[in-house]
Amino acid sequence: MVDDVSDSAPLGPLAVIPPDLVTLADYEARAEAHMPAGSWRHVQEGAGRELTLRDNRAAFDRVRLLPRALADLRGGHTASDLFGRRHAAPILLAPIAYQCLAHPEGERAMARAAAALDAGVVLSTLSSVPLEEIAIAARQAADALGTGGAPLWFQLYLQEDRAHSADLIARAEAAGYEAIVLTIDTAVKRSSFTLPAGVDAANLRGMPKLRHTSTPGGRILFGTPLADAAPRWEDLAWVRATTRLPLIVKGILTPDDARRAVEHGADGIIVSNHGGRVLDGLPAAIDVLPAIVEALAGAVPLLMDGGVRTGTDIVKALALGAAAVLVGRPQIHGLAVAGMPGVAHILHILRAELEMAMAQLGCATLADLGGGQLWDARRAG
Ligand SMILES: Cc1cc2nc3c(=O)[nH]c(=O)nc-3n(C[C@H](O)[C@H](O)[C@H](O)COP(=O)(O)O)c2cc1C
Repeated sequence: MVDDVSDSAPLGPLAVIPPDLVTLADYEARAEAHMPAGSWRHVQEGAGRELTLRDNRAAFDRVRLLPRALADLRGGHTASDLFGRRHAAPILLAPIAYQCLAHPEGERAMARAAAALDAGVVLSTLSSVPLEEIAIAARQAADALGTGGAPLWFQLYLQEDRAHSADLIARAEAAGYEAIVLTIDTAVKRSSFTLPAGVDAANLRGMPKLRHTSTPGGRILFGTPLADAAPRWEDLAWVRATTRLPLIVKGILTPDDARRAVEHGADGIIVSNHGGRVLDGLPAAIDVLPAIVEALAGAVPLLMDGGVRTGTDIVKALALGAAAVLVGRPQIHGLAVAGMPGVAHILHILRAELEMAMAQLGCATLADLGGGQLWDARRAG
C-alpha cells in the first residue's frame, strides 16, 4: 500500500525487483511513488468523468470464459504472424508519449525491454527520444541477446503541414520501422499538461506547434486553426500513398469507419478509444470489437487496446476476434518502478498469464481461441 505521496519527491527506479510485484496491478499500485504527482496524474487520467476509462476495465471483467477439458497441449505456443512478420506473442506495447516522464531512459528502456522479451513496439510521434535512437537501441539490444529483433512500428500523428508528416514517415522508413500506425481518434489534440524541463517531443524539434487558446467571447474551437487542421479521410488516402509500409489505423470504434479505413487502404485496424483519454462516454473497445470483427469478416487483422491488464484479458480479446492486443499505461508503470527490467517483467507477466490461461482453457495455439471459449449468459441453462 502506498501512502499519499503527492508532496514528497518521487522514489528513484528500483535496482532489484521485489518478489511482491507479481501482477500488473502490483506495478500500478507501486508506480505512483516513483513518479512526480503531476506526471502520474497525466498518465493515469481519462477524459471527463472517466466513464470510458473505467469501462475499458469493467467491460473485460464482464466477459466470462469457458474451458475445454483434456485438450492436447503438446506443441503449444503463442506465436502468430501479423503483416508478414512473426510475433512471439500477441502483445505489443502501445504508443505512449513522453516516456522520459517515467524514467530518464524513457523509450530507450522500453524498447530494450521489448527486444529482450521479443515483443512488438509502437513508438509514438511524441516520443521523448528521437525515433532513430530508439531503432538503434532496439537493434543493439537484440544483437546483444542474439535474437532477431522484435517488430518496431511508428505511430503517426498527422502534422499541420504535410511536408512534416512526410518527413516523419520517411525518417521512420529509413530507420527500419516496419509499419505506420496512423492514430485518427484525436481530431483535435490539446493538453493542459506542462512538460517538465528536459522532456520534449524529440521527433518534432524544429517543427511549428499549433497553439490553441480560446477567450470568452472569442472563437472557442470551430473556426480556429486547431479545428481546421483536424485530419480528414483524404489525409488517410494521402498517408497510404506516401508510405510503402503496412498502414494500420488506430482509434476505430465503429464497423462503418473500419470498412471505410480498409477502403482507403488500411492493412490493419486498432480498435481503441485511446485509453479513455479523448472523449468520455465512448464504449469500451472490447465491447465494440465483435461488431467490427463481423463487419470486416477477416479482410484485415484487427488489434485492440484499452484496459488490457491480465492474460485472461488477452484470451478474451482474442476469443472475440482480435489478432493481438496493445498495452498502454502498464509500460509506464514498469518504467517508473524499475526501468528496463520493470517493463521486461510486465511483458513476462503478461506472457506467462496468457500461456497459463490458454492451457487452462484447453487452447494450445492462438488459432484455438474463439467463440467456444466464451460463456454466453443468454444461452446458459
Ligand atoms: C500517457 C499516455 C500517452 C499516450 N500517448 C499516445 C500517443 O502518443 N499516441 C497514440 O496513438 N496513443 C497514445 N496513447 C493511447 C495508447 O496508445 C493506448 O491507446 C491506451 O493507453 C490503451 O489503454 P490502456 O492504457 O488502458 O492500456 C497514450 C495513452 C496514455 C495513457
